[in-house]
Amino acid sequence: MKKILNLLLFAFIIQVSHAGEGMWLPLFLKSLNEAEMQDLGMRLSAEDIYSVNQGSLKDAIVHFGGFCTSELISSQGLLLTNHHCGYGQIQSHTTLENNYLKKGFWAKNKSEELMNEGLTATLINEIVDVTSQALKGVKKGMTVKERQAIIDINLEAIKNELIKKDYQDVAIRPFFNGNQYFAFLTTTYRDIRLVGAPPESIGKFGADTDNWVWPRHTGDFSLFRIYAGPDNLPADPSPENKPYEPKHFLPISLDGVEEDDFTLVFGFPGRTQEYLPSPAVEEIVDVLDPAKIAIRERALNIIDKYMRQDEATRIQYASKFARIANYWKKWIGEVTGLKKTRAVAKKKNFEKEFRGKLPRDSEYQNILPEFEQLYKERAPYAYVRDYYSEVTGRNIELMSVAGIMQRLVSAYENNGAEAYQGFKGRVINYLQGFYKNYNPKIDQEVFAALTEMYSENIDNKYSPTQIQSNTSAPKSYKYLAEDLYTATALADKDKLMAILDMEPEQAIAKLREDEVFKLSSDWKKVYDKEVASPYNALNSQIDSLQRIYMKALMETFPEKRFYPDANSTMRVTYGQVKGYSPTDAVTYGPVTYLDGVMEKYKPGDYEFDVDQKLLDLYDAQDYGKYADKDNGKLPVCFIGTNHTTGGNSGSPAIDANGNLIGLNFDRAWEGTMSDINYDPSICRNIMTDVRYILFVVDKFAGASHLIDEMKIVFPKSKRMPIKNQTVKHKGVFGGKKSKK
Ligand code: ARG
Ligand code: GLU
Repeated sequence: MKKILNLLLFAFIIQVSHAGEGMWLPLFLKSLNEAEMQDLGMRLSAEDIYSVNQGSLKDAIVHFGGFCTSELISSQGLLLTNHHCGYGQIQSHTTLENNYLKKGFWAKNKSEELMNEGLTATLINEIVDVTSQALKGVKKGMTVKERQAIIDINLEAIKNELIKKDYQDVAIRPFFNGNQYFAFLTTTYRDIRLVGAPPESIGKFGADTDNWVWPRHTGDFSLFRIYAGPDNLPADPSPENKPYEPKHFLPISLDGVEEDDFTLVFGFPGRTQEYLPSPAVEEIVDVLDPAKIAIRERALNIIDKYMRQDEATRIQYASKFARIANYWKKWIGEVTGLKKTRAVAKKKNFEKEFRGKLPRDSEYQNILPEFEQLYKERAPYAYVRDYYSEVTGRNIELMSVAGIMQRLVSAYENNGAEAYQGFKGRVINYLQGFYKNYNPKIDQEVFAALTEMYSENIDNKYSPTQIQSNTSAPKSYKYLAEDLYTATALADKDKLMAILDMEPEQAIAKLREDEVFKLSSDWKKVYDKEVASPYNALNSQIDSLQRIYMKALMETFPEKRFYPDANSTMRVTYGQVKGYSPTDAVTYGPVTYLDGVMEKYKPGDYEFDVDQKLLDLYDAQDYGKYADKDNGKLPVCFIGTNHTTGGNSGSPAIDANGNLIGLNFDRAWEGTMSDINYDPSICRNIMTDVRYILFVVDKFAGASHLIDEMKIVFPKSKRMPIKNQTVKHKGVFGGKKSKK
């Protein structure tokens, strides 16, 4: 019986391990994906998506600030991304009188669009496979260092060769753990202005409670515009600049989606680890994720308690809370999903199959046992490493300040007075912002809770003496925190600024006397020596074994299509609009409507309040041309099987014809393990329906001049004449191909 069950499980795994999985390199779509994409209903060719010779979809896809994705949606450089991607910019223009976060912002014309210091938008000009040049001279048996030294020299040479225009940049990245290298030629624009943003009650509707959750009702979008110099090339921010004219921008389809429709998501996914061996996944599920979840939970409970007591604190800590809660919640979903889909068992079965295929004398015979051994040796250090970085780097705020002070001291000691003064200016800037949103009382309580947790869970030999536990005389971390926070200058802006006003030597002497500074530097010292150094040594062995394993997998399964792990480079993922069943007896549909917003509506609540204007439009059912044709309702969000991750925020969801239909902004909780183990049964990306976005721009905000800039199409119903097309589309719509 058990055997049969195992067989069934195995058959199940083999059968479903595709459909939606994969973050593909645009330049290999032709050979690897085009046929499958067309089978799923796509009417474009690979060349329509990525071409170096003519305008293609890729020319409309823009890396936003280096951390999110955005897309061009008009001939005048109009850029669509998420509200949470533009949040920092919207916040920076927000004042009490002009509360753009609360009320939204809409530039009435181009002269009202707001400049954003430091914000960039990067276009990809060309992707080049440089593997053979990058690995020239690399030989088997070289040490990691020797190998890297040769590669570094090679990469430098390739870069110099590739740069064709002085405004271009080139970045070369390793793929498949260093088995392949690709170069990205890019053009980065530096004058990116804020055009529009809905109020938070739309752009962040549901806030943290709904974060990572389906069914979802968030209009998570904002609009920017790229400005260029007179030659359409990057230029420093200046009122003289002109809207950028793109090679291609995405037409917008108002046809809407139905279950099983083809969707493609194009963007810059940040990081995945799909090819880890089973001991690594086991460690994440059983040890590392649970430890990080527990630490953040302690901190979040404390912050939440204070936020609920007082409105000013709520505002002060809202964004910090959201940041800590975002991954806390993600990890819980990740562990749940990895367990539910039996990811470790799946990996083990796969590893058995891999070993079974290896010839007896294969050089790869020892990879898996070596992994087992290395992960075992690394385990104690990996655990402390996560603890240390969560506690000192993420959750106790004062430890971050102390860390920066240490860097300031090192700047003086290593590079002298000039380096010190230069760095000090930046530090003071940072501190001004930091203290605005800092409440030492909250931080002190977090400190007490987390140092206690640290001492309970981490061996004394990895701890500085100040916080070591002592079983014979239990320590009170509450009193320790009280003493430290009373004595230290770091918790008090004026005191710390007074120190920074002193001559360097004197300031450094003062800092060295500070108990919190001392704790932080003792902590770092013991961590660097006892944890970081052995961890790094073992980890570099693991990395190099992972590279060999990856190569072995590709050689052993030549019939299988491999996609490289995400590394913030441009990728295409595709799938279908689809609901799912998160638990027994529960089934989710793939589309939500404005009715769902009203069901969640809680007047006065900071997460679920609804703007009066939206209530009025709902009451009047005044949706204009944005309502669903079949049921007359206003769609808000939908989900699909597209394989996405952090960094894909703001990515366009594109239909079978190359038109924009949605805006990616999240994943469903139960499927966030797709970063480690994609499973089409529960991995779903969440997108805002483009009809909701246009409804908000047009009906809610009255910014119809922006709608006029866009190109709206109804390809299925073919009932709207297409007007105002200002840019000639060379590739994408010329070569329509119908397979079906
Ligand atoms: N979970 C989404 C993404 O990682 C959205 C995060 C922002 N929204 C929030 N409520 N914290 O990154
Ligand atoms: N919100 C994520 C981002 O900022 C996308 C969600 C995900 O991790 O898939 O990129």
